[in-house]
Amino acid sequence: MKITVVGAGAVGATCADNIARRELAEELVLLDIKEGFAEGKALDMMQTATLLGFNTKVSGSTNDYSKTADSNVVVITSGIPRKPGMTREELIGTNANIVKGVVENILKYSPDAIIVVISNPMDTMTYLALKSSGLPKNRIIGMGGILDSARFKCYLSLALDCSPNDLQGVVIGGHGDTTMIPLTRLATMNSFPVSNLLDGEALKKVAADTMVGGATLTGLLGTSAWYAPGAAGAALVESIVRDQKKVFPCCVSLSGEYGQDDICMGVPVVIGKNGWEKIIDYKLNEEEQAAFNKSAEAVRNMNQVLRDSHVI
Ligand code: LAC
Repeated sequence: MKITVVGAGAVGATCADNIARRELAEELVLLDIKEGFAEGKALDMMQTATLLGFNTKVSGSTNDYSKTADSNVVVITSGIPRKPGMTREELIGTNANIVKGVVENILKYSPDAIIVVISNPMDTMTYLALKSSGLPKNRIIGMGGILDSARFKCYLSLALDCSPNDLQGVVIGGHGDTTMIPLTRLATMNSFPVSNLLDGEALKKVAADTMVGGATLTGLLGTSAWYAPGAAGAALVESIVRDQKKVFPCCVSLSGEYGQDDICMGVPVVIGKNGWEKIIDYKLNEEEQAAFNKSAEAVRNMNQVLRDSHVI
């Protein structure tokens, strides 16, 4: 198994670190455009091998895609991150051309790779990867919902004063401060609905905190977060390479599911060796479906920017 992570910034490097620690591949390549940067991060990581007890060979490359040849999975984190006060959507002008170029280069050397997109605005970058590559839809997966769901469960655990690992909770829709939809109705603590444990106000606050989860961290850190995004990317990669068939909310191409078409958005999917293998229908109620449709409208407007600027 060979995995490539494109972009050796904080998210890419953290994702790679998690991939190495969990020995998800024999070979892991980190690639970046900044001279020597990926090589440095990779070497630093390799020097943890005997301390952490992993055998994954980690190497770095300055924009030489031949080093990524025959990767089974490629994670794309390239592009600029958010600064405080910025939305993910404001990154589109810079990141669209970067992501398009990365996808082209990757497929030259790894035509069979499954592609995981983390770059923002993620839903639109996933759509761009799908449209510009012409790959089968199951091989393009956007990582957002796993991260947002992890944040949702984190805030729920703080409100309930319980272990986050006893919680099930899913965030669907777009990966944007106003487009994501924490499904509070369906969240449970060991199968018991959390709506029986928290009042409406408390649940609303958890949902609101989740939606601005990334922005809160950008405000605190001065740039966007990396521990949870990197770990979420690695969890997704793990389900692919170990064929775990885990159900994660991921951004995938919809063809009528959840009432939407010609769009990539976050819905619960089964993740295995073929990429995303099946969409699970969570039977949204009217209010949730209306929120999903509204979210789709915002994502669609963002996708239109790709057409208006002739990126696709
Ligand atoms: C975040 C970025 C990675 O939500 O989208 O932190």
